[in-house]
Amino acid sequence: MTDALKIGIAGLGTVGGALFRAITARHNLLADICGREIRITAVSARDRSRDRGIDLDGVIWFDDPVEMAREADIDVYVELIGGDADPAHAAVLAALGRGRHVVTANKALLAKHGVALARLAEDNGVLLNFEAAVAGGIPVIKAMRESLTGNSIQRIYGILNGTCNYILTRMQRENMGFAECLAEAQRLGYAEADPAFDIEGNDTAHKLAILTSLAFGSQIAADEVYIEGITNISIDDIHAADELGYRIKLLGVAQRTASGIEQRVHPTMVPKGSMIAQVEGVTNAVTIEADILGELMLSGPGAGGDATASAVLGDVADIAKSRPGHQHAPALGRPAAKLEPYQRARMRSHEGGYFISLKVEDRAGVFASIAARMAENDISLESIVQRARPTGAAEGPQTVILVTHATTESNVRAAVDGVKSEGYLSGEPQVIRIERTRDN
Ligand code: HSE
Repeated sequence: MTDALKIGIAGLGTVGGALFRAITARHNLLADICGREIRITAVSARDRSRDRGIDLDGVIWFDDPVEMAREADIDVYVELIGGDADPAHAAVLAALGRGRHVVTANKALLAKHGVALARLAEDNGVLLNFEAAVAGGIPVIKAMRESLTGNSIQRIYGILNGTCNYILTRMQRENMGFAECLAEAQRLGYAEADPAFDIEGNDTAHKLAILTSLAFGSQIAADEVYIEGITNISIDDIHAADELGYRIKLLGVAQRTASGIEQRVHPTMVPKGSMIAQVEGVTNAVTIEADILGELMLSGPGAGGDATASAVLGDVADIAKSRPGHQHAPALGRPAAKLEPYQRARMRSHEGGYFISLKVEDRAGVFASIAARMAENDISLESIVQRARPTGAAEGPQTVILVTHATTESNVRAAVDGVKSEGYLSGEPQVIRIERTRDN
């Protein structure tokens, strides 16, 4: 049998611990599959004394993950530290620079430095694998990097954050409040260290930016993603969507348009009967519309220690199976030098349907005025309804809900500004984009 593949794991939190256990428990099976042993020879984490329920005998401990990248006797550096800054960045640079393969779950790092790291990996003839960085355990990177080679992709969209999907699902199913659902997601280990990254959409944006690069052969442009999180989605919105035949999901969408590529993350109404609407809880899903293949949807566990560790393990095993002299696949699907500059389509040009919920004074002419502001901006309405007040509420604003036919973002913004200037609104209007799916 070939020499063992020696790996060092930096970060022994939920994912690192699960990976350690999986590799230890499946040692012989992995050796049979890969034709060589996978051996953990080094680890690095913040607190050496913490009991993680894993046996570190015979494994060299490094307090400093960058030192481990430089000094440890390893073939593969598994980076599970997180964040786009040092030590994660310095450690990955050091590992690649010394000709060690890198496996990482770090979407923030890739979103910011992915192209430069891909180039460094190519220059050093090593692999940069990052399946776990996008959609947890779902093998979407491999599908896009390898299986869809040669396809032209029109649109890719997905539920890329388990925490948000868990929160929205529980709110909808159990009428529970946002904060309570978030606390539960944190307790279950789905959320980021700072859950604002989840609920404000940044985590989804990082993942989307990586997928966009793979889908369209463009450089990663995470700063160009339009982002709205789920913090202002209320139970009322969820109920209204339900009545209109929709579910609300936090989607990441990248789409080729005449003026460039849209990258957007926002709460989205999707038809209840569509496949993406059925994706519940911490499950993630990605739909890819490709010209040769057609439509592909991948769905599976998007967060949590074991699911993420499974993706990391698959990446490590791929390296164990590769043989010296084997030409490595480029990290982003094509050589870094061949990635095109990202050409942004402006959000104001986005076309689609919109859900608009307005709290208005209950008096003559309000309905007509809303309809007039829409018409002035060339917006055709699919429906407009006024909700009855809750039982017992004799006074106070009424809720008017509009669903538009396809229009542009700039028209909707202008119409909503027009409505706001009329003086009959209470609070901010709620505007949620509707995404049409091919299956519904
Ligand atoms: N916090 C992420 C999520 C998991 O909730 O999906 C890892 O990306």
